[in-house]
Amino acid sequence: MTASLFGLDGKKALIVGGGRGMGESSALLLAQAGCDVAVLDNDAGRAGHVADAVRGCGRQGFPIVADILDEASVRRAVDEAEAALGGIDVLVTIVGQALFKPLLDVTLEEWDFDQSRNLRYFFVTARAVAAAMIARGQGGALVCVGSVDGAIGAPGHAAYGAAKAGLMHLVKSMAGEWGRSGIRVNAVAPGSITTPRLPETDQSRALMEASVLPIGRAGTTDEVAGAVLFLASKLAGYVTGHTVFVDGGWMAANLFDPRVMAVKKSNE
Ligand SMILES: NC(=O)c1ccc[n+]([C@@H]2O[C@H](COP(=O)([O-])OP(=O)(O)OC[C@H]3O[C@@H](n4cnc5c(N)ncnc54)[C@H](O)[C@@H]3O)[C@@H](O)[C@H]2O)c1
Repeated sequence: MTASLFGLDGKKALIVGGGRGMGESSALLLAQAGCDVAVLDNDAGRAGHVADAVRGCGRQGFPIVADILDEASVRRAVDEAEAALGGIDVLVTIVGQALFKPLLDVTLEEWDFDQSRNLRYFFVTARAVAAAMIARGQGGALVCVGSVDGAIGAPGHAAYGAAKAGLMHLVKSMAGEWGRSGIRVNAVAPGSITTPRLPETDQSRALMEASVLPIGRAGTTDEVAGAVLFLASKLAGYVTGHTVFVDGGWMAANLFDPRVMAVKKSNE
């Protein structure tokens, strides 16, 4: 890879939830583009494994163990990353999960939990990192991972959808408030991605192939990492406050697509 193309040689990145899947792919792609990387995860084994792999790319890699649900833990982790790396130029936040339950059954505690693990922690982490970036005076790039569910409805997992929609809005406000400090803030919104937590099965592959999805397959964690790298790099120097969808055309699909009608007809 021509690292200079990305303007990331010698830059310092903190990946939150970097221990596997999209986080691991993002950590390794940023390392290949020239970044030293701090890998934050609540699983020490995963953080250590990915930090080792970063070192295998010839860059510095540091494991950091923290819980994104706990503000004090996040603040300590950001300080630790700053000290280990010598500053943070790039923040990527990966952690997120959905509760699947009909709205009428969702308790307030469950609602709050989904806001915390998808939206609130990005506010907490981005604010701590942006304050450090502003103090350092060199700007930087913040990238969070959202979801297509933040842009369309999310029946059956509405608290998650609302939190992911909140991320898409929050990156705009952050971009507005911190742009003059040289900080760009964007989101990547994946569609259906095969991950260690959601591995491909015969059933999911068949669903993807038969569905309205234009590309007709699930995405990979490397394909999400590609968008993260773009947004973190100087190639996206004039991109801020936006969401890049990595969805295989999910949002371009249409229920009245003749191919869908044909599948429906064959099932009648
Ligand atoms: N897989 C998909 O199809 C899909 C689609 C749309 C959006 N997303 C989004 O992609 C992101 C990644 O999803 P995933 O299922 O690959 O993630 P994951 O469950 O594999 O988690 C990523 C990492 O975060 C760590 N982690 C979990 N809780 C933590 C905590 N409290 N503190 C610190 N670290 C913690 C895990 O140990 C793991 O290494 C999420 O934001 C998810 O909402 C996924």
